[in-house]
Order: sequence, then structure tokens, then C-alpha cells
Amino acid sequence: LSDIESDLTSVLYTEEQIHAKIAEVARQVEVDYEGRDPLLVGVLKGAVMVMADFSRELKMSAAMDWMAVSSYGSGTKSSGVVRILKDLDTDLHGRDVIIVEDIIDSGLTLSWLLDNLRTRGAASVEIFALLRKPEAAKVQVDVKYVGFEIPNDFVVGYGLDFDERYRNLRGVGVLAPHVYS
Ligand code: PRP
Ligand code: MN
Ligand code: MG
Repeated sequence: LSDIESDLTSVLYTEEQIHAKIAEVARQVEVDYEGRDPLLVGVLKGAVMVMADFSRELKMSAAMDWMAVSSYGSGTKSSGVVRILKDLDTDLHGRDVIIVEDIIDSGLTLSWLLDNLRTRGAASVEIFALLRKPEAAKVQVDVKYVGFEIPNDFVVGYGLDFDERYRNLRGVGVLAPHVYS
């Protein structure tokens, strides 16, 4: 185990398992978007690894753009009020948008983002989230593509951070309580 891996109590998904799942989703997207020119919208920063692997797995032309958002208010996230830190450079009129996310936790970020992007004249807006925590949902989000449903544990790796660390783990694992308590 590397240093950062020793901060995990367990590995939920290895790099290989993640890549296999992303390939599965890519095959489905190639069928669903045949003849179209989807725009992949990554949500910084957690989505960078999924975006990098998913976009390269797709055997079709796909443009990429990025947003950075942050929750307003009480300091804790999941207030549901979101502020745009970096907006898209792309005009969404008539575009088929696929939002790419690492994880849906409470669902508040994506629920807001979905509403926001749908007001911009896109032809369609769908979501690919690698991970979803059904038990943590505060709001139901209509997600077309989900990689894995996971328990309500503190997970890190493959883009997911704790205090900006662990994003560079190749797999996804459960963070050991001694790290954050
Ligand atoms: C994390 C994660 C999702 C969001 C999910 O991002 O990457 O974007 O939280 O949480 P929710 O479903 O409860 O809204 P975070 O705000 O930590 O920023 P980051 O991507 O830069 O880590
Ligand atoms: Mn994020
Ligand atoms: Mg984070």
C-alpha cells in the first residue's frame, strides 16, 4: 500500500473496475447519441478524472467544457444555493449536454445545475455520475447514467477529495475515520 492508500479502511472500486464501468457507459452513450454531437460538461474539480477517462473512451466526437460551482451560505455545503465560480464558455442553444460528475451525494449540486443548464436553450441535458449515494439523497435527481451506487460512507479517490487531498488515488475507497476525526 502507498502512503495515501493506508488512509483507507477499504477499497470500494479499483482503477480497473472503474475503467470497465466507464467503458460500459461509453458504449451506451455512443448508441444513445448516435448522429449527434454531445457536449460534455465537467463539474470542477471532482469530475476531472471521470471526464478524462470517459471522454477518451468515447468513440465519437465530443466537445468538453467545465463549470466550477460552490454552495452558498452557512459554510457547510448542501445548502442547495449554488454560486457559479466558473461558467461555461459554450453557448448551449441546441446542444445535447451530458453533465459529467464524480458523485451525487445530497443531490443538491446537480439538481441546481440541471435547472440552470436547462434554462439556456439546450436541446437536452442528461447526467453521468460515476457514483451515487442513495441514502444521502435530499432531493431526487433524474440521472440517466450511474456507474455505481454506494453506501453512505466518506469516500475519496478518483477525483473525490477530503480537504483537497486523495483526488489522485487511482481507485475509490472509504476514508479511515482517524484521518478526519
Ligand atoms: C462534491 C462532488 C459533487 C458534489 C456532490 O463536490 O464532487 O460535485 O460534492 O454533493 P451533493 O450531491 O451533496 O451536492 P465539492 O463541492 O466537494 O467540490 P469538488 O468537486 O471541488 O471536490
Ligand atoms: Mn464536485
Ligand atoms: Mg469536494
